[in-house]
Amino acid sequence: MSLSISNEQLIAAAESFGTPLYVYNADRIVHQFQQLKQAFSTSNVRIFYACKALTNINILKLIRQSGCQVDCSSVNEARLAIHAGFPAEQILYTSNGIGFSEIEEAVSLGININIDSLSNLEKFGQRYGHSYPVGIRLKPNIMAGGNLKISTGHEKSKFGIPIEQIQEVISLMNRYQIQIAGLHIHTGSEIKDVSVFMQVTDLFFDLIPSFPELKFLDLGGGFKVPYKDDDTATDIRLLGEKIRGFEEKITQTYQRSFEIWFEPGKFLVSEAGYFITSVNVLKVTSATTFAGVNSGFNHLIRPMFYESYHRIRNISNPDAPLQHYTVTGNICETDTFAWDRAIPEIREGDLLVFDNAGAYGFEMSSNYNSRYRPAEVLIKGGEAHLIRKREVFDDLLRNQVELF
Ligand code: LLP
Repeated sequence: MSLSISNEQLIAAAESFGTPLYVYNADRIVHQFQQLKQAFSTSNVRIFYACKALTNINILKLIRQSGCQVDCSSVNEARLAIHAGFPAEQILYTSNGIGFSEIEEAVSLGININIDSLSNLEKFGQRYGHSYPVGIRLKPNIMAGGNLKISTGHEKSKFGIPIEQIQEVISLMNRYQIQIAGLHIHTGSEIKDVSVFMQVTDLFFDLIPSFPELKFLDLGGGFKVPYKDDDTATDIRLLGEKIRGFEEKITQTYQRSFEIWFEPGKFLVSEAGYFITSVNVLKVTSATTFAGVNSGFNHLIRPMFYESYHRIRNISNPDAPLQHYTVTGNICETDTFAWDRAIPEIREGDLLVFDNAGAYGFEMSSNYNSRYRPAEVLIKGGEAHLIRKREVFDDLLRNQVELF
């Protein structure tokens, strides 16, 4: 099992499949899941991969084969999961802001559902009464996560039923005999501090007596992975110990037990992914030296959208002395990947690799500037397999209706 992909393998992939190119390491994804399994081995935990991070069908199949389950944020993701072979029972659908018809579709697929508004909960009660178990997503008023755009549990967040409206949830449950089987709270992405998860378990602990049919407590995703060299990840082993303690406290206090659910996205796929670009132009200015690559925020939006840091490596000239570059793309809008970054000397034609590109990389790409979305490659068993073709000109016109 190899946890990282060597420069030689990345160069070979770029030569075979061209750039820009997303490359994923199957071993690393399986390893990350094993880490979680181990950390929670003494608990009654179920892990659902938050597939919004990366939905390539081969990744979904790999995740399924490794024994992990899947969390979806749209019915289409659930359909992809079914296509990848997940049984309905292993699919979780955590909706937000959707029309009730999408919940009806989810019910018809027989998958697990978390509802996040009183309005949809009431419709659910009217339509299904006690016949279909359901989880409810709550907004706990906890500020957590790497930046405001990816924080979802704070007071002003749109996600979940506000915790202060819990009495209304209970009234709806009683009025329609709704089978509330789960409580769900996801406070954000890139949560380093284990105590955030334990704040959520404290909330759950107090709510348990109000919900006699509870089967699961869902703590969402959001485990942090290192992006920078000195970054630390969420301490999964410590979290495992704390969860064990939480389970014991529940048993002692209530003589009940529940499944604990997690929905990690980044933790499973971020570090397994690499994004390879080629340097088109070097431009020396009075402010900085630009290294312009054959990509942009149309392919990797995280730096521009979240000011995210991705390590950038020159795999064509790795041992050269460091110089400072501003790495930008080729689209007709400012698309800075990194400002004034120390990188081994760059020459036009060199391959620059962005690390941590597995999660929310390809998945958030677009055709802006009518450029093609990149190809995707999976390295498995030492071999590079093309898992998504690079787009071609016809793809740009595919769904357009030409009137003239
Ligand atoms: N569960 C729910 C309900 C979520 O909303 C999310 C992420 C996850 C699980 C998985 O979170 P993760 O383990 O991946 O942190 N595009 C942003 C991240 C947005 C996360 C959205 N929700 C980024 O690139 O940083």
